[in-house]
Amino acid sequence: MVRIRTVYTCQGCGYKSPRWLGRCPDCGQWNTLVEERVVEPGRERRGARPAQDPRVAPLPIGAIQSQAEARVRTGIGELDRVLGGGIVPGSLVLIGGDPGIGKSTLLLQAMEQLARDGRTVLYVSGEESPQQIKLRGERLGVGAPTLYVLAETCLERLLEEVERLSPAVLVIDSIQTIYTAEVESAPGSVSQVRETCGKLMTVAKGRGISTFLIGHVTKEGAIAGPRVLEHMVDTVLYFEGDRGHPYRILRAVKNRFGSTNELGVFAMKEVGLEEVTNPSELFLSERPLGVSGSVVVPSLEGTRPILVELQALVSGSSLALPRRTTMGVDHNRVGLLVAVLEKKVGLHLLNQDIFVNVAGGIKLVEPAVDLGIVVAVASSFLERPVDARTVVMGEVGLAGEIRAVAQVEVRIREAEKLGFTRALLPERNLGRLTLTSAIDLVGVSAVKDALEVLF
Ligand code: TYD
Ligand code: MG
Repeated sequence: MVRIRTVYTCQGCGYKSPRWLGRCPDCGQWNTLVEERVVEPGRERRGARPAQDPRVAPLPIGAIQSQAEARVRTGIGELDRVLGGGIVPGSLVLIGGDPGIGKSTLLLQAMEQLARDGRTVLYVSGEESPQQIKLRGERLGVGAPTLYVLAETCLERLLEEVERLSPAVLVIDSIQTIYTAEVESAPGSVSQVRETCGKLMTVAKGRGISTFLIGHVTKEGAIAGPRVLEHMVDTVLYFEGDRGHPYRILRAVKNRFGSTNELGVFAMKEVGLEEVTNPSELFLSERPLGVSGSVVVPSLEGTRPILVELQALVSGSSLALPRRTTMGVDHNRVGLLVAVLEKKVGLHLLNQDIFVNVAGGIKLVEPAVDLGIVVAVASSFLERPVDARTVVMGEVGLAGEIRAVAQVEVRIREAEKLGFTRALLPERNLGRLTLTSAIDLVGVSAVKDALEVLF
């Protein structure tokens, strides 16, 4: 027996309610419940299954055959690394990012590489016509004979083509534009996205087709649609960057087949995305030398250190509540570090506007950049430039102490490679360090000491 039922689904979190509600009781957002009709299949007997299904019998872990995962390299090194060493056959990868950031461009370029290796690749677009894709492709020099393009928004029809073509890799651009006839709500709604993703997953796993899904992001920057989307797929990547800058960062936030700390760096050029194999050089290329408020920090993103310039501008404020503006670093973290400077070092920052920025539009999340923020703010406030050949690293605690950071060796090596001559690092790290380096290493245990060394 099949029943049709009306439910109200929250477009933010996927919460279901039999009645309409103004506010979702689960995620607390207002006006997100949308009426949807669902077709319910007849009830199955709970737990009914074939008696001798080998999949359901528990096995000792030692008896399970391990499979060597054969990864497929896309030929775009930065993408391969973020994926964990290449595409795993049959895996589902979700790529999110702001509109216009370059998601379609990245995947079209990757598909071209795969097609050139002789693989059949299908690029399904629900957003652009084949002519538009062709136009973009011409700029990118795309034209492999086994790269197929399909403009389609109906899931069932596109799956027919998948059946016919049997591609090794499939791209869906974007998941929010695809609909299945089985769900009545509009494309892009929670039920549609969940249902289409589920069906694509069945096909991907069943036939071993590696599938890339492009996902739109909401105003808040999360991939639109329910969280379940992120739970269903194997890998979630975010493509981010500042549209005013050419640099684009590809970051893994979930990866069943690799580390989530890896980062790929690209530059958007006239002829598409170009890999940036030495990002430190790029991020430092426009650094002003000998000015106050600028300092270089070796930040570690996954296995790769990147040297970036932190900038701060501190200027007297006429506001009752002085401004604290941050770009690329956590706002609250900056507030905390400014308080440490105020209380533990005695800098009078209360009546100052403070702006902190990471050059190049990159985002820094690890606490090892704390000392960099502190130094940049102090440098701007004191109007004393930091020596241009010095890097700083260290986590700062509320007592003004400098705490140890991970993988100092890697950071120092990178600084050395780019011609830096001095590194300020936590005292604790220096004690344990065994490397011999041409670089001058200075251990510091409190913010006060660090500022004394530098200014
Ligand atoms: P696109 O891949 O369409 O972004 P998304 O799919 O994430 O929405 O990228 C569009 C932007 O990239 C557009 O603003 C133009 C720019 N671009 C270049 O600068 N060079 C190029 O070769 C291409 C194809 C796009
Ligand atoms: Mg696009």
